[in-house]
Amino acid sequence: MAGSTIGTQFRVTTWGESHGKALGAVIDGCPAGLELSEEDIQVYLDRRKPGQSRFTTARGEGDAVEILSGVFEGATTGTPISVMVRNQDQHSKDYSDIAHVYRPGHADYTFMEKYGFRDYRGGGRSSGRETIGRVAAGAIAGKILETLGISIFTYTKSIGDIAISKVDVDAMDSNALCMPDAEAAKKAEAYLEECMNKQDSAGGVIECVVQGLPAGLGEPVFEKLDAELAKAMLSIGAVKGFEMGDGFAATRGNGSTNNDAFVSDGESVAKATNHSGGVLGGMSDGSDLVFRVAVKPTPSISQTQRTVNEEGENVEIEIHGRHDPIIVPRAVVVVECMAAITLVNALYANQSSRLEWLQDFYNKQE
Ligand SMILES: Cc1cc2nc3c(=O)[nH]c(=O)nc-3n(C[C@H](O)[C@H](O)[C@H](O)COP(=O)(O)O)c2cc1C
Repeated sequence: MAGSTIGTQFRVTTWGESHGKALGAVIDGCPAGLELSEEDIQVYLDRRKPGQSRFTTARGEGDAVEILSGVFEGATTGTPISVMVRNQDQHSKDYSDIAHVYRPGHADYTFMEKYGFRDYRGGGRSSGRETIGRVAAGAIAGKILETLGISIFTYTKSIGDIAISKVDVDAMDSNALCMPDAEAAKKAEAYLEECMNKQDSAGGVIECVVQGLPAGLGEPVFEKLDAELAKAMLSIGAVKGFEMGDGFAATRGNGSTNNDAFVSDGESVAKATNHSGGVLGGMSDGSDLVFRVAVKPTPSISQTQRTVNEEGENVEIEIHGRHDPIIVPRAVVVVECMAAITLVNALYANQSSRLEWLQDFYNKQE
């Protein structure tokens, strides 16, 4: 199976299945000298861990990370970093009912058509648990960004039709939905209770804001920053849409309202507004990077649904495994980590964009 690696110079390969022995990632291209402990990664993994509220799957995983290589005496060595999380609470029996039936909205049918085989226990590689490797790698990328003064803030923008009307950072920790608006979170919780009573699920939108990025990140033309971010985000299971800045809403405006005026204080150039979301021509423009991803409702629902089995017969399906009634809150940290991985790659690539930067760097080494 190809396609498990993302990035060119900061290269991340995720491995493992939902009901196998373990999952993890190999990160190649992390510079030597970055202080790194298991705790640094654990903090991120704990944000995506199941079983933390009634709105996430009841699967009781500790998701404790082990660093297998690439770190010595508390710092990275420049060699490949391998990280692993052992699976503990697999209930593979829960899946025997659907071993030969395709779950609507999931990857069962397409895996079977492509490989002639599928791991029906939790979906194998198409499980949300695959994101463990992404989050572990993203935690390391996040640490690199931190050393450069670049920070990422990611949160739930909306669930169903309920959207936040403010960004109150303190409110985010007081609800299980990662919504920075306590009132909206309350309404969203009530809506999710309704969905759960109907044995149904819900979707939503995640917003990500990156601060402290220099202008010029992103490689025209095929490796534009927005194109790379879109690829990274759309590679996350259940993500169905991506937009930068005003995104689709920009189509309803005009050039005069959508353009961001440039302003200068005599020393540096800035933008009066940020409809672009911080990218122009595929390169960061020095303002905040702002993008959103759309996450569909969890496909596995316990309502009776129509489907087809491997023999091609029309059958009904009821899914009784443990599933998230909403994926959004657990995917918030996944979005943040995929952004961090993408940005570290963009930073590396940008180092070779001007001859004088290369000369500066190598002359300093003499
Ligand atoms: C963090 C996370 C958790 C997920 N949890 C579930 C789940 O509990 N049940 C489920 O059916 N799908 C879950 N998914 C979504 C499936 O992985 C995804 O819908 C499936 O692979 C099909 O891919 P697609 O939706 O991108 O077409 C989760 C995804 C993520 C990112």
